[in-house]
Amino acid sequence: MASYLQIPDDEKGHDLELFCVPKHYENDLDKVIIPHGLIMDRTERLARDIIRDMGGHHIVALCVLKGGYKFFADLLDYIKALNQNSDKSVPLTVDFIRVKSYCNDKSTNNVKVIGGDELSNLSGKNVLIVEDIVETGRTMQTLLSLLSECNPKMVKVVSLLVKRTPRSSGYRPDYIGFEVPDAFLVGYALDYNEYFRDLSHICIMNDQAKEKYKV
Ligand code: IMP
Ligand code: MG
Repeated sequence: MASYLQIPDDEKGHDLELFCVPKHYENDLDKVIIPHGLIMDRTERLARDIIRDMGGHHIVALCVLKGGYKFFADLLDYIKALNQNSDKSVPLTVDFIRVKSYCNDKSTNNVKVIGGDELSNLSGKNVLIVEDIVETGRTMQTLLSLLSECNPKMVKVVSLLVKRTPRSSGYRPDYIGFEVPDAFLVGYALDYNEYFRDLSHICIMNDQAKEKYKV
């Protein structure tokens, strides 16, 4: 079972005043739940765990856009640092896929995968899927079943966050950064209708902002 840093349900978080957040979001956020520095520290360790398990072979890192892009970039930087500074190293190539399942703050049953044609390139490869957050698990299960049709050699999934929610299908990724409460989180590329990707810390949005940015 994957180990992770648990953010408890009664986590008070941190006052916004203690951190730098963009002026345009100051009135939209409740609190900082995971500061950027802590995300980076945990990501560094995930890179080490992944290389320990997958480091024998060429890895294709598959970024699930758009929410995964920050985590993907930072995780790969740490993997590159390991490759540069040890006797053993592993070639790393990248690929990108786009998946959309959310409208406002609700996961929908309709999981759309864009760029699926590229998946055939993954045949015979060791694939590391890099995702921002697993909630119901539907997105990842859809992606995994699509991927299995391409016959990759190995598939592992790393998700920065996993939500503790009764809506979960029971799916768990191979590597998990943090387990988080059942709240809508934004920042570090996690969005609400495309807003808040330009925020470094992972935060809880307030109800007023849910109305303000609703589509
Ligand atoms: P699932 O299919 O329900 O597991 O949802 C996974 C996808 O929904 C993630 O890749 C995110 O894009 C999105 N998502 C789920 N929870 C949140 C959240 O709290 N904030 C932002 N996006 C979320
Ligand atoms: Mg995502």
